[in-house]
Amino acid sequence: MSLLRINGLSKVYGNGKACTQALKQVDMEIDKGDFVAIMGASGSGKSTLLNLISTIDKPTHGDIWINNINITKLNHAKADSFRRNQLGFIFQDFKLLDSLTILENIAVPLIIQKRNKEQIENRIAEILDTLSISKLRDKYPYQISGGEKQRAACARAFISDPELILADEPTGSLDSNNAHNIMEIMKGFNEKSKVTILMVTHDPMSASYCKRVIFLKDGNIVNFVEKENNAQNVFYKEIVEHNTKLQQAI
Ligand SMILES: Nc1ncnc2c1ncn2[C@@H]1O[C@H](COP(=O)(O)OP(=O)(O)OP(=O)(O)O)[C@@H](O)[C@H]1O
Ligand SMILES: [Mg+2]
Repeated sequence: MSLLRINGLSKVYGNGKACTQALKQVDMEIDKGDFVAIMGASGSGKSTLLNLISTIDKPTHGDIWINNINITKLNHAKADSFRRNQLGFIFQDFKLLDSLTILENIAVPLIIQKRNKEQIENRIAEILDTLSISKLRDKYPYQISGGEKQRAACARAFISDPELILADEPTGSLDSNNAHNIMEIMKGFNEKSKVTILMVTHDPMSASYCKRVIFLKDGNIVNFVEKENNAQNVFYKEIVEHNTKLQQAI
């Protein structure tokens, strides 16, 4: 069943001579439980696409349906509630709140959803354990490493069981070991909780954890590859080949 449906999505920034067409008539469909990577050169429209899906920005043309609701038509209050209840975010620069402990950072989505104290405590203990970060609970972001910060950010994104996780280069600031670790975490949640994940990445290794990779070029979808029954290393090679071809075509 399709969770996300995008029809004729365009985004133009600015106007007149200074305008940039960041997305051009993009169509896309993502099923519930899918795990999809978006790849493409810098400026190809990847973050624009995520910003439109997250209702942070409005399209110039086109529609985005999530669970059969056209989210481009939501008013401010409904868009806020949609983001709070249905989306989880992971960013390249973690975006943890400096003045809160790791435990408090992870609790934020549940506090905003007004869950009761016991529910929050149980859920946090469970997720800290799953991600092996229980020992970080009372530390502040400045006291932990980049890899640990991203694990905490993953906990915050997944804790409220969102319908859709949007991740913009989640491994972009990590070394290869930590990148593998974060991708294992995301894959684990995708497999166990069936949460749908849409992830932007420049890194073929990170993309090879996904089920599908969509390639964007100059605001258009130009190609895609599916993992199907291939082993991860075979899929990785396929992604590298497509990515190289895409870069050579510039
Ligand atoms: N707020 C904005 N105002 C004007 N132009 C913008 C704005 N945001 C993005 N753009 C332009 O739209 C195009 C797509 O940008 P976008 O941020 O989506 O690219 P990207 O694929 O995420 O790139 P990167 O890999 O560098 O993050 C670029 O040409 C960019 O300069
Ligand atoms: Mg970007």
